[in-house]
Formats: sequence, C-alpha cells, structure tokens
Amino acid sequence: MKVLVTGGAGFIGSHIVDQLLEKGHEVVIIDNMSSGKETNLNPKAAFYRIDMEDAKIQEVFQREKPKTVIHQAAQTVVQTSVRQPVYDAHMNILGTINLLEAARLYGTKKFVYASSAAVYGDPQYVPIDERHPVGPLSGYGISKYTPEQYLRVYQQMYGMEFTILRYANVYGIRQDPQGEGGVISIFIDKVLAESPFTIFGNGEQTRDYIYVEDVAKANLAALKAGNNEVFNIGTGVHTTLNQLVEKLQQISGKALETIYEKERLGDIKHSYFTVNKAKNNLHWTPEVSLDEGLRKTYQYYSLQNSTKIL
Ligand SMILES: NC(=O)c1ccc[n+]([C@@H]2O[C@H](COP(=O)([O-])OP(=O)(O)OC[C@H]3O[C@@H](n4cnc5c(N)ncnc54)[C@H](O)[C@@H]3O)[C@@H](O)[C@H]2O)c1
Repeated sequence: MKVLVTGGAGFIGSHIVDQLLEKGHEVVIIDNMSSGKETNLNPKAAFYRIDMEDAKIQEVFQREKPKTVIHQAAQTVVQTSVRQPVYDAHMNILGTINLLEAARLYGTKKFVYASSAAVYGDPQYVPIDERHPVGPLSGYGISKYTPEQYLRVYQQMYGMEFTILRYANVYGIRQDPQGEGGVISIFIDKVLAESPFTIFGNGEQTRDYIYVEDVAKANLAALKAGNNEVFNIGTGVHTTLNQLVEKLQQISGKALETIYEKERLGDIKHSYFTVNKAKNNLHWTPEVSLDEGLRKTYQYYSLQNSTKIL
C-alpha cells in the first residue's frame, strides 16, 4: 500500500516510516525539517521537503496519490503555543486542513491522525478513557483537538475514513533532548552530563510513558482497523517522576542529585490512560515495558554521547 507520512523525519514519524518499509509498504514522506533530522530520513522512502501549509502539497498528492495518510507533522511544543498561539494554530489546524483538502481531491481513502493526551487537559478521573471529556489547557491542546473535528466532518461529507490516536507521553530513540521533548530524554541527558535532575513539585506526579516503537505499531494497526474511531495510545501503567529517576539511576549505575523546585502553575498531577479500547478494536497491545524501553533509550544516547566525545 502507498502511505504518505507527514513528519517522517521526526521522532515518531521516522519510526513509523521504518516499520512501514519493513512490512513492504511504499512510503512517501512530507517534512519541512523544522525539527526533523536528515539522519532520521529512511533512504528507501520518497521525500518531499515541503511545509504542510504550502499550496504545492496538492502537487505531491497529485503525483503520488497515497491510499493512506499518517499525519505526524505538527508544532509540538506546548510553550510555543502559549507564546505564539497564532503560529501554533496555523501549523496544526490550517496545515492539517491543507492536507485533508489534498487528500480528498486525490483519492486518499484513510487519514490516521496523531492526537495527544493534551486534548483532555486536567483529568477529571484516571485512568482516562476515550469517553473522558475534552478540556484543553493550552493552545496546543486546542490545535491538536480541532483537526479531530475536521476528520469527522470529512468522513461525513466525503467518506474519507479516519483513525485518531491520542498519544500519552512518548519516549525512546531519536527523541530530541534539546527541544522541550519528553522528560525521559531530558533526564537521560542529565545522567550523561552527570548533572542533577530538577523536579518541579514532590516528584509524585504520574504519567503514562509509552515506547516509540509501540506507538509506531499502533499507527500500522490503524491501516487495517479502527475506522472512524478514537483511541488512547499508552500503556495503562502509571509511573511517578521519582520512580523514573530511580530506574535511570539503576540502569546507568550513577547516583545523581535530585533538586526539588516549587510546583509550576498549571502542571497536571496525575495523567494516565486506559488502553482497553485499542487492545480490543485496534488489535494492538503495547509490548515494551518501561524498564526495557529505558534501557534501550539509555544505551542509544550513551553510545551517541561517547561518539561525540571521540
Ligand atoms: N512526543 C510525544 O510525546 C507526543 C505526545 C502526544 C502527541 N504527539 C504528536 O505526535 C506527532 C509527532 O511528534 P514528535 O514527538 O515525533 O515530534 P517531532 O518534532 O520529532 O516531529 C515532527 C515532525 O514534523 C515536521 N514538521 C513540523 N511542522 C511541519 C510543517 N508545517 N510541515 C511539514 N513538516 C512539519 C518536523 O520537521 C518533524 O520532522 C505530533 O503530531 C505530536 O503532536 C507527540
């Protein structure tokens, strides 16, 4: 099947591309390289360096006619959406509409969309299931949620199928610790630099950390299942920041200081998913435990770090 992956040079998108190619799919990547990396680009995929808001996107669709779109490209930084809400909305909302228009004009049958736990905001209950009300707390949460509504409308108006995957906290190989990426890549960066961890609050806040390869597998599962439904993509397991620190100290064999600072305004205390719907209807189950995922990620970064030093 021909699949077009937006954001295929990014953290999650590049893993999706690799798995699609492994399964024998034909892959086309669209990426403007704003946070994507050349080294993440799989040479077996066709690559168009273009912004998803560019009107020329239609020429790509006209030429490639992908059967399915897996849409990962986005402005992903919550703080950017606070400082530059117009930019954030442009990218995530108008960019997605631009893709949807090209997709419907050139015969795309299905659109798989990377949404986020950010659409739920501060949970009213945990674990969060898909019936939990949405209540974004940032421009980013709004700009990730709005395309979900467009997908529903495009399905009703044009019959284009969709699957919405709301990711929990994704971590793993290729995540950029320099950005405002996941806490795990930031913590690993601290371990390698042997500098102290900083935790805002008492460290007992919980999150659902899911390994990137499992997230990519959920996207591949959506090629065949889960039409016109929304799924939480996490592990269903919740972990505190203090537990994360402890695990990283064990894996690295380094005992580093942890500095506790005042809780930040608006920080969410507990957020984790139940993923039974994805297990039942998407026929997908997360396979990588946090210990295994942390070990793989730590090994990857420590190798990168040692080649940098050499
Ligand atoms: N990482 C997480 O924990 C997490 C959690 C929830 C949801 N998500 C969602 O998953 C998706 C992928 O996130 P990621 O962590 O891999 O981020 P990333 O920044 O590594 O990847 C995004 C990719 O999209 C590209 N891109 C950005 N704007 C673009 C544009 N206007 N046109 C074309 N390409 C553009 C970037 O260059 C990059 O390669 C995003 O939609 C994000 O909102 C991520």
